[in-house]
Amino acid sequence: MDKKYCKIEICDRTDPLELEIITGNLGPDVIDISNLYQENSLFTYDPGFVSTASCQSNITFIDGDKGILLYRGYPVEELAKSSTFIEVAYLLLYGELPNKNMLEDFSDSIIQHTMLNEGMLRLFNGFRYDAHPMAMLSAIVGSMSAYYHDTMDINSARAREIFAHRIIAKLPTIAAAAYKHSVGQPFVYPLNTLNYCENLLHMFFSVPAEQRDIDPIAAEALDLLFILHADHEQNCSTSTVRMAGSSGTNPYSAIAAGISALWGPAHGGANEAVLRMLVEIGTKKNIEKYIDKAKDKDDPFRLMGFGHRVYKNYDPRAKIIRKMCHKVLNQKGSADSPLLELAIELEEIALKDDYFREKNLYPNVDFYSGIIYQALGIPTSMFTVMFAIGRTVGWVSHWREMITDPNTKISRPRQLYTGPEKRNYISIDKR
Ligand code: ACO
Repeated sequence: MDKKYCKIEICDRTDPLELEIITGNLGPDVIDISNLYQENSLFTYDPGFVSTASCQSNITFIDGDKGILLYRGYPVEELAKSSTFIEVAYLLLYGELPNKNMLEDFSDSIIQHTMLNEGMLRLFNGFRYDAHPMAMLSAIVGSMSAYYHDTMDINSARAREIFAHRIIAKLPTIAAAAYKHSVGQPFVYPLNTLNYCENLLHMFFSVPAEQRDIDPIAAEALDLLFILHADHEQNCSTSTVRMAGSSGTNPYSAIAAGISALWGPAHGGANEAVLRMLVEIGTKKNIEKYIDKAKDKDDPFRLMGFGHRVYKNYDPRAKIIRKMCHKVLNQKGSADSPLLELAIELEEIALKDDYFREKNLYPNVDFYSGIIYQALGIPTSMFTVMFAIGRTVGWVSHWREMITDPNTKISRPRQLYTGPEKRNYISIDKR
């Protein structure tokens, strides 16, 4: 196919710049500016990477205007309806849906890696009882590089494979250990007879004195939430994993960096922030007041769980979660949950409001997920940890793609310098 180019006029230059346009399989074309600095001594300026494609990827596609999300080409709605988190994990990691044997082998391998090195468990004792679980999660995942030396060689395909299975398997165990530490209960070991989400519920809610029955709807809800959180192309935490990994650091450190990025309230921390916001709003009669606060430029308050960098339409994941929210609350006998009613009313009022309509602010994936987690008995501070369990699959898939991409370079953006020009040092007695 013929190459496409665009010409850009620069006011004080006689010749326009000629830049190649690269076309992907879906989504907008990109202008290749990779040689712009070497050839023209110019940088581009794009705070927050709003118009910048940082890499080529064949994992996930989003059309934010139409509300489309595809994992390896499969619509997330179809996967949410018919697949399981473990199958989706396989799809994201390897690019294709597995056959029955492949899925069994993969599932067995994950089950074989669920236990933690006992030394890692002892690390939890160093944390205060009220440490935020995300602080523990990032620290413990970072510490994995001190325990699993056999998977530190990023140039070995086998080491990368074991790392991938190991971290996907251990995240629920680490999450449950963080929870048990925060409530002062003894750690509960994983059970190989249970599936991924059942095991998580077992490690959370069983105690050595009593093994709790697994609620199938709770396991189904978690599986769905993990599918919906599994990947979202070059979001803040995934880009952080790629950026940290681009230096050649070990993969556990790169994932720990991603966990730290996810914690922020503008990203994965939003599910915790939504619940805190709903509790703060309290009753339906306060909704208008908080909508006004969200619209006030001088007030830092934002409607948490609303808006998205990419979706300028209803987040397809929010639609699916909304349904599951009703299912879980019905089963728990709390269909008339005041928090859910408040969330539904808030959504309705915001969606009719000109401010939110004009700015295309719709509920995102996190608007309803916290209500489900709360109904399952998971404390608010654990919500972002739950998000991290699902997103680990995406982080690992992107890290593996980045490591094997021949175009990968260390990520090293440039800047538009606005500081002082060169000046001479003044000794302290003359200042
Ligand atoms: N409440 C009120 N106003 C909002 C909101 C909100 N939730 N979100 C965006 N806006 C307004 C902004 O004030 C801005 O207004 P302006 O153009 O008059 O200045 C405009 O909408 C655009 O917002 P930006 O912050 O520029 O958009 P950006 O793409 O950078 O941010 C983000 C997206 C961070 C998600 C933002 O919508 C937000 O803070 N939402 C609340 C937090 C949240 O729910 N985060 C979860 C995102 S999903 C995820 O990570 C899993």
